[in-house]
Amino acid sequence: MPETQADVLQKIAEATDTPVYVYDGDAFDERIERLQNALSGVDHLICYALKANDSLAMISIAAHGGLGADVVSAGELLKALRGGILPSDIVFSGVGKRRDEIAMAIEVGVQSLNVESMQELDIVAEEAHAQSTVARIGVRLNPDVSADTHEYIATGRGDAKFGVPADQAYELLLRAHRDPNLEPVALSFHVGSQIFDPAPIFEAAERAAGVWRDLRSAGVELKEFDVGGGLGVPYMGETEFDLASYVDRLGKLTSELGATLVLEPGRWLVAPVGTLLTRVLYTKDIADRRIAICDAGMTELLRPALYGAEHPFTFITDTTGRKTGRVDLVGPACESGDFLGKDREMTLPEPGDLIAVGYAGAYARVMASQYNARPLAPEVLAEAGGWRVIRDRPVVDSLLDGERA
Ligand code: LLP
Repeated sequence: MPETQADVLQKIAEATDTPVYVYDGDAFDERIERLQNALSGVDHLICYALKANDSLAMISIAAHGGLGADVVSAGELLKALRGGILPSDIVFSGVGKRRDEIAMAIEVGVQSLNVESMQELDIVAEEAHAQSTVARIGVRLNPDVSADTHEYIATGRGDAKFGVPADQAYELLLRAHRDPNLEPVALSFHVGSQIFDPAPIFEAAERAAGVWRDLRSAGVELKEFDVGGGLGVPYMGETEFDLASYVDRLGKLTSELGATLVLEPGRWLVAPVGTLLTRVLYTKDIADRRIAICDAGMTELLRPALYGAEHPFTFITDTTGRKTGRVDLVGPACESGDFLGKDREMTLPEPGDLIAVGYAGAYARVMASQYNARPLAPEVLAEAGGWRVIRDRPVVDSLLDGERA
């Protein structure tokens, strides 16, 4: 009998213990290819948003698939380079870059430093001058549009901390044009994350195109039109994001502008290819519900606690003959907000069950914490030929590293 995916997950859990993140490398490859194919008729660069999953093995798959990177810190920049992504394919975004991070980005020669304020542009100019070089500049526009998503991950509203309004974006790029140590190359925006209705992205793109054309009239020729990320994934069986019409609309606009279309997807590429494996430690039946206490929770997957996000659960353990009921799948942390899922109708878990939490490839391990002094969970990469641990489970003693009483 051929080995099923559940068999593989079962073996991994036995070998590595739980909790553990498992990524399907072949599925990641396929998604990269799907996105590249959708964009094949368009002059484009896909800059994988490392913040979604910055594991070196995954970055290296992205690099082999011809992706660039969107990074937001010196750490992510280092990882992108170590993973094999060329500096010329890296955009450095982020609302709060430190001077040392800016200096590093200029030194390695990233494709563009996407600045978000005049103060930041001044620092970039000083650092470029100090290094006697020319820094390529992008400006992040605050497009003043609302996206239909959780308020914590909507980033394009006028009152958001991100980007600058259109008139300032114009000023900043003009200022960069006049500075011999700066070269304006990009205009970027990102309206938010986990988006299914592209209308606000299109609206933002039109606004950005206006700034682009005004700059052209002022003699400033930009190269990259960067539309950010945000493509939604169907965590709980929603309809898929419509890639074709998204690419069609943005491709037409960028070809009209004579621009390279830059995309910064994170979640769409990696969320579906990751699984968090957890085991049920104990159960309690309370009123109308069963509470199943797992060995993973908000420390391994913060999304349910932080955004009320829902992830699919699949039993790897055979549950034939079991009843279903209302279930809270909770973690071991000392917080009532520590849950993987609340009041879900599902098969009643029993102690020892192995459960796969789906769509845990994005914003899971990267947002993990050691709260309650619990070591981070390890990561495994599974591919057609087998599987391997790509990040070890730290030994408990390592929690004391670098600490003094
Ligand atoms: N580019 C910029 C400038 C961004 O701020 C982000 C995400 C992305 C690209 C990638 O967006 P994506 O394609 O992954 O939607 N922790 C939250 C998501 C926060 C996203 C922040 N910015 C979550 O778990 O839902």
